[in-house]
Amino acid sequence: MKKIVCLIVLSLSLLNAKAFNAPMQTYMNELSAEAKAQDPNFTGFDAARGEKLFFSKHTGKKGGEMSCTSCHTNNLKNGGQNVNTNKPITALAPSVNAARLTDVAEVQKWLRRNFNDVFAREGTALEKGDVLTYIINQ
Ligand code: HEC
Repeated sequence: MKKIVCLIVLSLSLLNAKAFNAPMQTYMNELSAEAKAQDPNFTGFDAARGEKLFFSKHTGKKGGEMSCTSCHTNNLKNGGQNVNTNKPITALAPSVNAARLTDVAEVQKWLRRNFNDVFAREGTALEKGDVLTYIINQ
């Protein structure tokens, strides 16, 4: 019985999950292969882990406390502001900004910069896959 409930919840959450476009799905598959190569126990990206990462605080490359929310705010459906340049940033959530997570080169470029801003290093395949899985569902 417990198993059936689990299966129903799982299939509902899978049905609910938003889809990446084909090029982005290819990129996600590459990240997935990389994550598996780095950790044989890797079983898939996790939106909850991605959410935790998005809100976690770290010492950024400039030495101050930073998180993804420093520029993108606590609500992905709202626009934010680049704390370095003061330029406005439109919302990250694909549900309100259809252009988000559609262009692999754009996503790669900003993840490289933004992980560096927040973690003072590049993101791992696991971290990038988790956070993209979180954002696509916003
Ligand atoms: C210093 C400010 C800043 C921080 C901190 C920051 N971002 Fe960004 N982010 C930007 C800017 C600026 C852009 C590009 C402008 C735009 O797309 O509106 C961007 C774009 C993105 C994009 C590209 C989305 C797309 O498809 O257009 C993603 C994904 C992203 N950020 C994720 C993150 C994640 C994950 C973190 C935390 C590790 C993070 N950002 C932290 C400023 C920031």
